[in-house]
Parts: sequence; C-alpha cells; structure tokens
Amino acid sequence: MTSFEFPGEYYEIMRGDFRDLAAETDFLSSFASAGGRVLDLGCGTGTNLRELGARGFSCLGADQSARFIEYARGAGGRNVEYVHERAETFTTDDRFDLVYSIFMTLNYLPRAELRTVLRTMRGLLRPGGHVVLEFGHLLNFVEGFQQHTVAHHRGGDGVLITRLARQAINPHAANWRNEETLLVRESDGRVSLYDNFFDQAVLTGPEVRELLADAGLRIIAEYGGFRKEPVPFHGRGPLVIVATAQGEDSE
Ligand SMILES: C[S@@+](CC[C@H](N)C(=O)[O-])C[C@H]1O[C@@H](n2cnc3c(N)ncnc32)[C@H](O)[C@@H]1O
Repeated sequence: MTSFEFPGEYYEIMRGDFRDLAAETDFLSSFASAGGRVLDLGCGTGTNLRELGARGFSCLGADQSARFIEYARGAGGRNVEYVHERAETFTTDDRFDLVYSIFMTLNYLPRAELRTVLRTMRGLLRPGGHVVLEFGHLLNFVEGFQQHTVAHHRGGDGVLITRLARQAINPHAANWRNEETLLVRESDGRVSLYDNFFDQAVLTGPEVRELLADAGLRIIAEYGGFRKEPVPFHGRGPLVIVATAQGEDSE
C-alpha cells in the first residue's frame, strides 16, 4: 500500500532535508560511462535523473505516483523521460548501462514482488551494466522507530511543511506502516493538507543478498552511504549495493 500522491514541490523540500544529492549524483555517475543509458525505478519527482541528465546521461524514470511523474515532467531537465508505471509491471525493450533504485524505494514493494523486480532489473542491463540499490534494513527501522513524529521542513520560498507521522509495526509480516499528515502553509498564508501513507518491508542484509543472488545479480560492492563509506561493522547506516549480472567481470 503506497500513496505519495501530493504535490512534487513539497516532496522536493522534504527530500532536501534528508538526502545528500551531490553525493548521490557522483556515486551514480561513477557506475556508467559518459553518455550511458540510465533507468531509475521509483524515480519519485526525478530529482536524481535531472542531475544525471545534466551530466549527459540518457535517462528514463518510472514511478507509481501520478503526481510525482507530473511534477518530474514539468520540471524538465535535459535527456530525461518519464513513465507513470509501477516497478512490478515496468517493461521495455530498452537496455541500460545503469539501473538503480534508491532512497529505500524497493522497501515499498510488496515482498512477493521484490524478487520479480530484481530479476527484471537484471534483464534490463546491457553487457557490463551495473545495478545500484539502496535498501532500508532491519536496524534502520528499529533505530528509526518513533510512534509519533512532528517535523518541520522549510522551502526557500517561505513554504512551511509540518509532517505529522505515525508508525506501526506488523511483526508477523516484518512490515512497517507509515501514515503521514502533511500540513502545508504557503508564504501567502494558504494552508493545505495531504495524507500520505505507505507500507515498507523491513528487510535484512542476508535476505537482500539472497534475493540478489536469486535474481542473477552478483554483488561487487557494499557501502554504508553514497560517499562510499564502508559498511559499518555495527550495521547502522543505509545499505548501498552495487551489482552486475552474474557471469560478467566488472570493476
Ligand atoms: C522515498 S521515495 C524515493 C523517490 C526517489 N527514488 C528519490 O530518491 O527521491 C519512494 C518512491 O517510491 C515510489 N514507489 C513506491 N512503490 C512503488 C512501486 N511499486 N513502483 C514504482 N514506484 C514506487 C513512490 O511513489 C515514491 O516516489
């Protein structure tokens, strides 16, 4: 269950508070050669693809949110196209030098679909291509758990977003339910309200590695962040994985 149906400009403001876009762009760029073909599965508002397009990559993004794809198309950018499509049903005859999915997007997939989507990603690679995945894993969820959160995010143009979040765990499904109310005040005083809800699968490192192997993907590197931080011994931080198709020598 996933929504993300609210105006993309508000997502961009909140994303900026959570993410290091420069590090993401450098990292992703390093896994495709100049002018390469790139696919972002779960591209959101196209934040990463606009940066990669500006660097000369030829980019395609897919996301299940109609509002986010509408925003991404309107935001323009060079060398970037979008399709409004779920990752589970995404298909194309195109092949890519880099296929990626970041900011925990794969955690939003129903567990049963994740295996299929990873196989699809593998099948979309050109020879020598790379897959980059960023997962939220067990410890991120455990440490990040707060039953109720109130957070403020400010846009440069005077927009104030108050995010009221509620989290619930379904331990038998290893599933995290997030319900957010976004209260947005524009600089002219107008106020609007959006409900955003999503389920996330609480994945573990071993589970993810097994899924990748099953999908025919060979892990060539694991990092604890987009600045190529080593995966910390204690397991904190995101799990960023770089993989190639099994049977190929790369990096
Ligand atoms: C946290 S956002 C990350 C978006 C983008 N990757 C980024 O880094 O900004 C999660 C995204 O996953 C998308 N999403 C969730 N489930 C999806 C699915 N089954 N297929 C495609 N996109 C999905 C949502 O619409 C949302 O845009």
